[in-house]
Amino acid sequence: MQAVAMATQPVIKVAALCGSLREGSYNRGLLHAAMEICKDSIKGMEIEYVDISPLPFMNEDLEVNGTYPPAVEAFRKKIEEADCFLFASPEYNYSVTGPLKNAIDWASRPPNVWGDKAAAIVSAGGNFGGGRSHYHLRQIGIYLDIHFINKPELFVYVFESPPKFDSDGVLTDEETKQRLRSVLLALQAFALRLKVKYE
Ligand SMILES: Cc1cc2nc3c(=O)[nH]c(=O)nc-3n(C[C@H](O)[C@H](O)[C@H](O)COP(=O)(O)O)c2cc1C
Repeated sequence: MQAVAMATQPVIKVAALCGSLREGSYNRGLLHAAMEICKDSIKGMEIEYVDISPLPFMNEDLEVNGTYPPAVEAFRKKIEEADCFLFASPEYNYSVTGPLKNAIDWASRPPNVWGDKAAAIVSAGGNFGGGRSHYHLRQIGIYLDIHFINKPELFVYVFESPPKFDSDGVLTDEETKQRLRSVLLALQAFALRLKVKYE
């Protein structure tokens, strides 16, 4: 019998960004849960948490002859090396947070390192579970050429009982973990479609 050649599936590298700088952030809790789920049960995908807190405030005066401050260069490199992005985006006053917009702006400077890559958004927060921030983030992504998956969506309402997170911001709710896993699988499938197209 002839052996069937199996095409090896490329490993998808995900950069995970959290819009909250808060220590016990529920949104960071979603990213940590995503990393755990990925490690335990999703083949061919690696998630790296990329910290946005060392970034200075966007200021074009910090750009000198096309170079950026060291923290910005390091951040831009992580974004450039990733195949796709997982944003945990809290909602601040019906929009994305200042720190997240700041990070997005730094990596958009020439050359834009977000472009033509897949992304997914998850959020945890108040009555809409941070959902309104998704729509502003999607709008920002138009100019940057980020391709967001449409479904499944994940908005986690945190201020209800029983709690979905423990007091350290660790996701404990099993149903939310399953939904998060579905988001990751959809992101992986979409990122693979984009990657295979160009390789
Ligand atoms: C400046 C500010 C604005 C906020 N605005 C909203 C809002 O518009 N909608 C909402 O659901 N929650 C809002 N919140 C509450 C956050 O969603 C909540 O603090 C959430 O836990 C933040 O995410 P984190 O746990 O990852 O830090 C706001 C919080 C702050 C600090």
